[in-house]
Amino acid sequence: MTINEQQTREEMARLCASLFERGFSVGTAGNVSARVEDGLLMTPTNSRLGDIEPDRIAKLDLEGQHVSGDPPSKEVFLHQALYESRPQTGAVVHLHSTWSTALSCLADLDDEDCIPPITPYVVMRVGTVKRVPYVKPGDPKSGDLIRTLGGSAAGILLANHGPVVAGKDLFSAVAAAEELEETAKLVVALRGISVKTLSDDDVVDLRKTFGEM
Ligand code: 13P
Repeated sequence: MTINEQQTREEMARLCASLFERGFSVGTAGNVSARVEDGLLMTPTNSRLGDIEPDRIAKLDLEGQHVSGDPPSKEVFLHQALYESRPQTGAVVHLHSTWSTALSCLADLDDEDCIPPITPYVVMRVGTVKRVPYVKPGDPKSGDLIRTLGGSAAGILLANHGPVVAGKDLFSAVAAAEELEETAKLVVALRGISVKTLSDDDVVDLRKTFGEM
């Protein structure tokens, strides 16, 4: 194992524990993956994000075959689809965090643009958030649904299930998932209230200054 892989395992365990301690994940909900030189590291299926042991994290080779560690998350298809459709992706976080999941259940949500630009950080850290239709957890069709987006969104809501966020590395993916969750909370809190969003010019300026997600 390379030093880099060992560091990624340790960082994954640390960030998963932090998400769990702060209530972004409960029970055995959620999974996290990260790219390494010769494949993918992924949290084991049915594990609590609070208890991830670096040496037991599942490893998949470049063909997606499980080669070591505990069996990987059943949501491996979701993760793989994001790495394939967004080559800049270095890590993926899937949660059942309360407010993003609440948003994912709304009947009148705009599937192409789930989060209006009400604050700058969601624009800077997550970008446009899209929703894909419901399939049961672990269904390989979840990967096909994500591929239909053609890499156009780093933040995705799985209808009636929860958020998935891709980032350039573990830290960025976790930070973006947290940002999405807090913004989803604001969006739900502000429903039914007339809201002033950022202007189109503000959004263009943010993207120019901080980069496109
Ligand atoms: P795993 O335990 O297989 O990772 O599944 C948890 C989950 O979040 C399902 O959506």
